Formats: sequence, structure tokens, C-alpha cells
Amino acid sequence: MYPSWTSRAPGGIIKNIGRIKLKPAASVSVFHRNEKLYALEDASYPFLLEPESLQTIGEDRLGIENGFYNAHPKIDGKTGEWIHFGIEPSPTFFLHLTELDATDAVVNHRRIKLDQNLFIHDYFVTAHHIIMNMHPCEVHALPFLLGLRSFAKCFKWAAEKGNLLLVFNRGQRFHEEPVRLETDSCWMWHSINAFERNNEIIADFVGYEYPDHFIGNDPATWAVMEGREIEFLYPGKVRRYVIDPGRNTVKGEILFEGNYEFPFINRDHWCHEYRYCYLVKSQGKLIGYPYNTLARLYVETGETSEFAFSASEKVEEPVFVKKPDTPANEQAGWLLSIVHNEEIGISTLAILDAEDIPNGPVARIQLDHHTPLSFHGFWKQS
Ligand SMILES: [Fe+2]
Repeated sequence: MYPSWTSRAPGGIIKNIGRIKLKPAASVSVFHRNEKLYALEDASYPFLLEPESLQTIGEDRLGIENGFYNAHPKIDGKTGEWIHFGIEPSPTFFLHLTELDATDAVVNHRRIKLDQNLFIHDYFVTAHHIIMNMHPCEVHALPFLLGLRSFAKCFKWAAEKGNLLLVFNRGQRFHEEPVRLETDSCWMWHSINAFERNNEIIADFVGYEYPDHFIGNDPATWAVMEGREIEFLYPGKVRRYVIDPGRNTVKGEILFEGNYEFPFINRDHWCHEYRYCYLVKSQGKLIGYPYNTLARLYVETGETSEFAFSASEKVEEPVFVKKPDTPANEQAGWLLSIVHNEEIGISTLAILDAEDIPNGPVARIQLDHHTPLSFHGFWKQS
């Protein structure tokens, strides 16, 4: 009935031309804070849900009339502050940055005109900085305005333009101009974490040399939505930027080869130093949705541990749930991942011990039906 950011409304051009107001699905991530449950996505405002029944309450602009938000806010693991970015898709795009304190009161908000109209899905936050990784995913919206394509099918990867890092300050210096640093082009769906060490910012993420899984002629991501499996060539590698904002330098390196996605960490360490991250990983060729393995990476030493499910079992984002009786131990926790068995069409919630991933699930909660592939989960201790 309605156009979304990935799909046109049924009925062809007549039903889509000029329909620039998209119907939000709020289907990308969830956050529970201060007794409120939020559902987020990149092309709309946050939505409030009733925490017990999951009934939709309505839009919530987090205290800012003209604020824009996205699915990947960060919560400072030490202060509880909630930091957001959003992209306002006007004829010239604007970046919105918003800081809320631990009670969700607005502390800072700014709206910044961008040099280019880009699609950005995630970013980095440290104790003192906000870092936008502006990869060159250009939005050429004319076919969308004419009703010919969905918004997300108007993206073009302009590799020759490279990435631009915008390093903003948090807190008192929030409104200062950012440091601008240019580096090689690299697609980023998801950051892993970022923190400060001496005068440097360490920013870890899953990066692709080229996003052929998402942009181009019949890419794998779109084909999956239609039940087709297409091969792609460029894997998601775990990468690191080492940024020195005082000297205006950035250095990129690859921490882990392989094909990874959907990173998760112990969120007590969000925006601060950390050692472990958990991701989905694929084995072999990159075809369709290729992830059937859960992995833990020790980012300082390069050590890995993993568990591969069968080839017909597809795994989703491993949500890390810390064990409440060992708060100082970063790695003490459980991993929750929805596993979809393609052969029998049934989904299972698999629970693994984060310190013993190679042993596989310690428990499986099997549904009697499948769940559609989804994106990001959240655990709230009762
Ligand atoms: Fe995401």
C-alpha cells in the first residue's frame, strides 16, 4: 500500500510519482531506555512501543521538533548518555547530531549542511568525540522522485571520491567545526566500537573495499529479498582507523580477513576501550545471505574462536548479554542469535556461552515457524 525506503508502492509510476514521504517500518533496531521501548530505522523518526504488548504508541522525536535520527545511536557505556546522528534528506542533505543525557534530556543538537547527498548507516562515538565515516554512497534521487525506483535503489558508489572522516567533539565543544580527514573508499554498514588511547582515536568497523553485495546490477542483498541467491565478491573485513585529530592524520589497517557482519560488543564498553567483539561470519563463497558461523574476535591479539552451524542454518546478529554476577569481566556473557534453518523452514534462538563459542549452543529455543531475516536485537534484563 505504501512506499518504503527499499520498496515502491504497488501500482507502478502512477502510484509512486512524487510520493516522497515514505511509510516507516521502524524495523532495523530496538532500544529500551528509561522504561521506554523505541524502534528505529534510517528513514523515519523513532517509534515508541508499549514494552509489554509491543503495540505501537507513535512517533517520538526525542525532544527535538525537527530532529532526524537513524538506527544506530550509541549509548556511552560509562555515562549512559544517548548519542544520535541522522541524515535529513532535503534537496541538499543535512547531518543531525544529538546528545541526550542518561535521563534522555536533550543536551546538544546541531544541524550541519553536507557537501554531498550521501547514505550513511552507522558512525563512531568515543568518550570525547563523534566520528562520521562519510563513505561515497551518493544518493541520486531523481528516479525516486519520478516514481521509477525505491529510495535505496538510487544509490551510486563513487569509489574515486574516497571516504571523508568528520571528527566532532562531544560535550562542551560540541558546536566546534569538525576535523576533516580523507582516506581510501571503504563501505561501512556497521561500526564495532571506538575509543581514545593517548592522543589517538581507535575506530573499528566492518568494511568492504566495494559494496557489490548492495549496489550495482542485481546485487545479492536485493536478490535475497526475492528468494534468489547471487554471488558477490567483496567480503566484509574487520578494519581499524587510527585517527590523530591533533595532527590531522588517519591510518587504515585490516585487523581480520574473512567475511564478517553484524558486530556486537559488551555494551558496558561502548565508546570506551574494549577487547572482544562478536560477529556473524561466512565460510566459503559469498552467495546470497552467506552467514552460518558465530565468531568472537580478540581485537588486540588477533585471536579468534568460532562455531559453524550447518550450511543450511543462517545466523543473525549475536546479541551479547552480560552475566550479571561478573560485571568486571568483559567476556562473561551469553550470545543470543536467531538461527534460521532453510531446509525445514524453522527458526531457533541459539544461546552460546561467549567464553566457549567453539562448544556451540548450550541451549536452543525452537519455534514452530520461521522468522524473517532481520537486523538488530536488544536485551533488557528484567
Ligand atoms: Fe544496521
